[in-house]
Amino acid sequence: MSYNENYENWKNNPIKYWQNKSEDIHWYKKPEKILDSSNPPFWNWFPDGELNTCYNCLDIHVENGNADRKALIYDSPVTQTKITYTYKELLIKTERIAGALQNYGVSKGDRVLIYMPMIPEAVASMLACARLGAIHVVVFGGFAPNELATRINDSKPKIIIAGSCGIEPGKIIEYKPMLDKAIEIADYKVKTCFIFQRKICEAKLIDGRDFNLQELINNSNSTKPVSVKSTDPLYILYTSGTTGDPKGMVRDNGGHAVALKNSMRMVYGLKPGEVFWAASDIGWVVGHSYIVYAPLLSGCTSILYEGKPTGTPDAGSFWRVISDYNVSVMFTAPTALRAIKRDDPNGEEIKKYNLQNFRMQFLAGERADPTTIKWTSEHLNVPVIDHWWQTETGWAIAGNFSGLDLFKIKPGSTGKASPGFEVQCLDDNGNIKPRGEIGALAIKLPLPPSCSSTLWQDKDRYKKAYLEDYPGWYSSADAGYIDNEGYIWVMSRTDDIINCAGHRLSTGAMEEVLSKHQNIAECAVVGVEDELKGQIPMGFIVINAGTIEPNEKIIEDTISMVRNEIGPVASFRKVIVVKRLPKTRSGKILRSTIASIVDKKPYKIPATIDDESILDEIKKIIK
Ligand code: COA
Ligand code: AMP
Repeated sequence: MSYNENYENWKNNPIKYWQNKSEDIHWYKKPEKILDSSNPPFWNWFPDGELNTCYNCLDIHVENGNADRKALIYDSPVTQTKITYTYKELLIKTERIAGALQNYGVSKGDRVLIYMPMIPEAVASMLACARLGAIHVVVFGGFAPNELATRINDSKPKIIIAGSCGIEPGKIIEYKPMLDKAIEIADYKVKTCFIFQRKICEAKLIDGRDFNLQELINNSNSTKPVSVKSTDPLYILYTSGTTGDPKGMVRDNGGHAVALKNSMRMVYGLKPGEVFWAASDIGWVVGHSYIVYAPLLSGCTSILYEGKPTGTPDAGSFWRVISDYNVSVMFTAPTALRAIKRDDPNGEEIKKYNLQNFRMQFLAGERADPTTIKWTSEHLNVPVIDHWWQTETGWAIAGNFSGLDLFKIKPGSTGKASPGFEVQCLDDNGNIKPRGEIGALAIKLPLPPSCSSTLWQDKDRYKKAYLEDYPGWYSSADAGYIDNEGYIWVMSRTDDIINCAGHRLSTGAMEEVLSKHQNIAECAVVGVEDELKGQIPMGFIVINAGTIEPNEKIIEDTISMVRNEIGPVASFRKVIVVKRLPKTRSGKILRSTIASIVDKKPYKIPATIDDESILDEIKKIIK
């Protein structure tokens, strides 16, 4: 079926469209109602349906005769390990972790926080929660204890499952001391932790609180999947908001399973048994959706890669994995390809591997620059498809659809709206802008299945953040335009979020950290262009009059404060001391003007600027 036909089918009858898709899922109780819109602007998909997501990911394939099909391939160049799990083997591991959780009192609706590196036990722990109807809260390993503590306080987990350490090129990151610190500073006190001891760095366990996960797995029994309501939460995933408080995005079970299974075929064109690789981390939404849930729901083989695009050991790692495991389709962030291109500009590494089964390269997470797209398609000789995503949606808002008919690729654009999403470009008053004009990208309500419709225990914040700017629309906080052929061009965020190496970070949160420094009078953090990471944060600080401490020391302090309070993943390394910050007369800091000066881009001086001379000071420092 063509893209146009599919999109029209959805548009003409969205209920029928999603009802058809829901037939692909195993339900304990088949939904009779497809969409509940009785409480606008909130909605629920398949409200009276009941299912178990883990059953749909694992048991069903075993029961259908595919027990020996490969489910998960763990490839870890940082530990020199390669392990393949069949569906049956992954089910056994999952059942046993679920059994251990159950033995320690976890049941439907309880939260379980997972703070783990990219190891199979992390995937099985997520699925084990789904099996019990417990809600997992995965926290990315690059976050500092303070961020972990914030997530503990908000989600109040009954149990934390953690790894003893993560492994980054050339260094071991001890997770356990960070976990201990987070538990110590959190107001909510977690009583039980399961620790997976990695041989490379075993952690000291606290008597009565910490238990060895492997021993629990060895001694636990299998557990049956628990039937949950379609609308019950499957997981909470915290993502950056404009303040220091991350947003706890809630994903339901039913809508998620239906949309993700459909996306695997429609967006990526994958058939059961084929191999899919999302080179992301389970701490991010891409990892949740496309390392764990969508490939397994679809009976595909998923790759869990614990390594980097370069340096583990070289710029050929991605091509080695594709060739070793017959990967059909891969998904990564443009940053990863820029890192490879930097080390191997002529694509010599690509030539060393047999990539004949590799069909397509997908990109998302940040704006894909046309140069990187061109380099990749020339060297890999496959279509390179950029698609637009958010943690909030869980799958692509726009793209090019391998399972339908691929349309022409326009480098720099994220393709056309996915069936299920009506995307428009709006002006400040919520009117649809003419094609080609830049504005706010918004999605008509209701959003399709899988999209979050609340933040964890904070519907009001959800409403305020996403639904109040343009009544009847979901505000994506991305700016861009739609061209005459319906292609969507996502250009920048409209808030204080930046995308650094494909990681979503809040500059507001960094400002909150800097302003705690006793010698800083005021500060601004802006996202500036970076050749490798797309964007990096840059701090501008005004030091209190009369401060004796040297500027260099204050700069050093601020860098370590952000590292310690948010985490190394913030990549906060550039700080500039200025006499004042440019502001409007009403006191609003001109952050985008500062960023334009640093990026050497044209900018308009706002008529309401308080004192123009400060812009010249910044220009002089930056040059
Ligand atoms: N646990 C602990 N620390 C982590 C971590 C983790 N899971 N992931 C990253 N870090 C640390 C890194 O070690 C680094 O620390 P450092 O400042 O001490 O060197 C810091 O966080 C920044 O890491 P990163 O942003 O990954 O930068 P890098 O320079 O180490 O690597 C790239 C650059 C391009 C290779 C890397 O960013 C990359 O692979 N990007 C792709 C990202 C991606 O797939 N995103 C998913 C979205 S789809
Ligand atoms: P995250 O929630 O971490 O997935 O980040 C979502 C944000 O990343 C979006 O709001 C965009 O700003 C950005 N983003 C994701 N995919 C793309 C893309 N293909 N092109 C441009 N920006 C993107």
